[in-house]
Amino acid sequence: MKYSIVLPLLATTVHAGPVVERRQAAACPAIPSTFPSTTNAKLPDPFKFFDGTAVTTKAQFDCKNKEVSAALQAQELGDFPKKPSSVTATFSGSSLSITSTEGGKSVSFSVSIKKPGGTGPFPAIIAYGAASIPVPAGVATITFNNDEIGAQQGGNSRGKGKFFDLYGSSHSAGATTAWAWGVDRIIDALEATSSVGIDPKRVGVTGCSRNGKGAFVAAALVNRIALGLPQESGSGGAACWRISDSEKAKGKNIQTSSQIVGENVWFSTRFNSFSTKSSTLATDHHQLAGLVVPRGLLVIENEIDWLGPGSTTACMKAGRLIYKAYGVPDNMGFTGSGNHNHCSFPSNQQTELTAFINKFLLNQDANTSGVEKGPGGTDPTQYIDWTAPTLT
Ligand SMILES: *[C@@H]1O[C@H](CO)[C@@H](O)[C@H](O)[C@H]1NC(C)=O
Repeated sequence: MKYSIVLPLLATTVHAGPVVERRQAAACPAIPSTFPSTTNAKLPDPFKFFDGTAVTTKAQFDCKNKEVSAALQAQELGDFPKKPSSVTATFSGSSLSITSTEGGKSVSFSVSIKKPGGTGPFPAIIAYGAASIPVPAGVATITFNNDEIGAQQGGNSRGKGKFFDLYGSSHSAGATTAWAWGVDRIIDALEATSSVGIDPKRVGVTGCSRNGKGAFVAAALVNRIALGLPQESGSGGAACWRISDSEKAKGKNIQTSSQIVGENVWFSTRFNSFSTKSSTLATDHHQLAGLVVPRGLLVIENEIDWLGPGSTTACMKAGRLIYKAYGVPDNMGFTGSGNHNHCSFPSNQQTELTAFINKFLLNQDANTSGVEKGPGGTDPTQYIDWTAPTLT
């Protein structure tokens, strides 16, 4: 693999507050069509291309992320389609109606937008189903009926929903990928329709539990999302498959890959063959966080066994090593808290939520450094046999 033709980086400032650069490497090596299948009980090295070449620069890491995305799609998520040939939108009252056309077929869906008073454009949070985090004044809420795009009523809903009406019921996408496609279209619509009054460069995404898995996948796949706020995503989101298997082996009542593929259609059928051997996956979910780099990410968790607080904490600590290597450790945090109901947001996570929203959506100075809250004694080093470099 050669890097002699990495062209100068195109760095653009996303918003005027804290500087978040979106870098685009002009030339990446070809993405392999097959991925390593060697058994590795440790978390895969996020700083090595699949052919073994070391990742030492940010530009190479951006290329590595293309490999990671391809591997995740090939093994877990199913294909994430590019923008349809036509996306149009109309805004009326509080409803943004979006029509996507591809291959002679069209589907339409609507999202409802609740805006703050005053003059926009406003930042916004796309909420799967309904927001179960407090959305502050000054930030709009875009309510997204993700179930309509990809049904999640158990195994029988495979291939159902508007995404599959457009691309065919046998499309490889799991529901989380179909929903991310919907988020991508919402941003298309916000970009194309300034009368909506939402700033498309300051859009976050949230969802809780199964929808938290979805919000995490959307933050990873849709690189126009400025802030990911997955809540209580557990396995399939903030947990690493390998660590969850290890926790299960220690007797925890924790969701794992072998369970999740039978419960619902959140993942592609491509995941089925890996579900009982997660240690052969080419990636793990520390790299799902890595795909969001350098954009904002606050992972909100709850200390409920099924969500795997030991797994989510260790996995996201590994994720923060990736942010740190890229030089933006403060752009990611994770916060775990116990003793509250599933998907009820506790007051002891408010400070970090406010800080991340202030910084990434409201363009304010805010301290997002060092947000690593989780159960004590969770140490990712036992799952890591690589060292994070300082990417140049
Ligand atoms: C930011 O927060 C971190 C972690 O809570 C703390 O250690 C640090 O002192 C804070 N920095 C400022 C400038 O307040």
